Amino acid sequence: MEISGYEREMLEGRHGQAKKFAMEILYKLGRAYGADRFIQVASAHIMAHYGSLHDAGLELAEKFVTLGGKFCIPTTADPLSICHRHWRELGIEEAYFHKQQRLERAVLKLGVQPAWTCTPYYVGNLPRFGQNVSWAESSAVAFANSVIGARTNRTPAGLNYCAAITGRMPNIGLYREENRNGQVLVEVKAGELSTLDYNALGYLVGKIVGNKIPVLDGLQPSASVDHLKYLGAAAASSGVVALYHAIDITPEATGRDPFGGKRPQEVFTIDRDQLQKAKQEMTTAQAEPEVVAVGCPHYSISELRTLSQLLEGRRIKKNKQLWVYTSEMTYNLAKKMGYAAIIEGAGGTFLEGNCLVISPLGKRSVRTIMTDSAKFAYYLPSEHNLKIRFSSTAECVQAIIED
Ligand code: F3S
Repeated sequence: MEISGYEREMLEGRHGQAKKFAMEILYKLGRAYGADRFIQVASAHIMAHYGSLHDAGLELAEKFVTLGGKFCIPTTADPLSICHRHWRELGIEEAYFHKQQRLERAVLKLGVQPAWTCTPYYVGNLPRFGQNVSWAESSAVAFANSVIGARTNRTPAGLNYCAAITGRMPNIGLYREENRNGQVLVEVKAGELSTLDYNALGYLVGKIVGNKIPVLDGLQPSASVDHLKYLGAAAASSGVVALYHAIDITPEATGRDPFGGKRPQEVFTIDRDQLQKAKQEMTTAQAEPEVVAVGCPHYSISELRTLSQLLEGRRIKKNKQLWVYTSEMTYNLAKKMGYAAIIEGAGGTFLEGNCLVISPLGKRSVRTIMTDSAKFAYYLPSEHNLKIRFSSTAECVQAIIED
């Protein structure tokens, strides 16, 4: 594996012990996977939620602090496993909160931009086409690779810290041009797609292709950034999709052959009936939901505007709840634009900077959740033993407001 002068200096400890430790790990990884060289990465998106990293992740972050480490590239972080404002009233245990707080302090000392979101591209961590980055969080990875055309693997949590400290990753996987070609053609013949349809489509695509790279044909050019966000998040949940191409929509499938001159290994068709069946498959409860949970991946400001329009002048029933997940930055923007006041005034609760999947439920007693997100629908049954009703945002709101 080729190594530049500066990379060798890092490996030899001439730029501090943190870089040395991180480079040792990355060098071993690169050699194990047959990398020819290191590449520079322009930004990192790390995990700092105690709910996934546990004590091992906390110890690693604190070790980098002790070694004098600093993130040398712009670095954002996923949601935390607690909401700063609501953790106590939600019944999160003190001991858990303190572990999460230690982890938060450690990454702040390392220099993280504290956006606490799975949608870093909404809050300033926005690479350009073709740029190498090192991101964790499967939905963000799918977005970066597919929608932006930046390049990242689904980087495991610890390796991402190493990338953020050194600005390097081994040249493996999706960093290499030849590994980014489409493998499976998915013909979408389902007419105009709603936001919920994009969720269901992603869920189906992930199930069909597993870890292969799908090329979707038949999406309408009006697909929004939020639509593509849901598509990738769902495909990365039910499958291991880190990159998809959508013909004439995503950059690597526009003006070029997304299969790189090869024939697709397989061809599938998804029609309206299959989308309908996927929605039914994700709905595991007929019971009335106690809670509506939205914002997986984190809601954008335009989704918060839509939600506020649905709730304007309405009240959420006393025995129902609405949990809204978004970044702290987007929440602050929603406050300035008046959307937060409408949503909170109707009885909704923002859990900004937080995520339901990677948080303890605490004292929240809930059995059935209604959601507009296929990723929530996929993970909440296994993570929290919850039953799901999967519906559009409008139907979710309709289910919990007073007549
Ligand atoms: Fe984000 Fe949590 Fe969903 S990290 S993508 S809100 S599972």
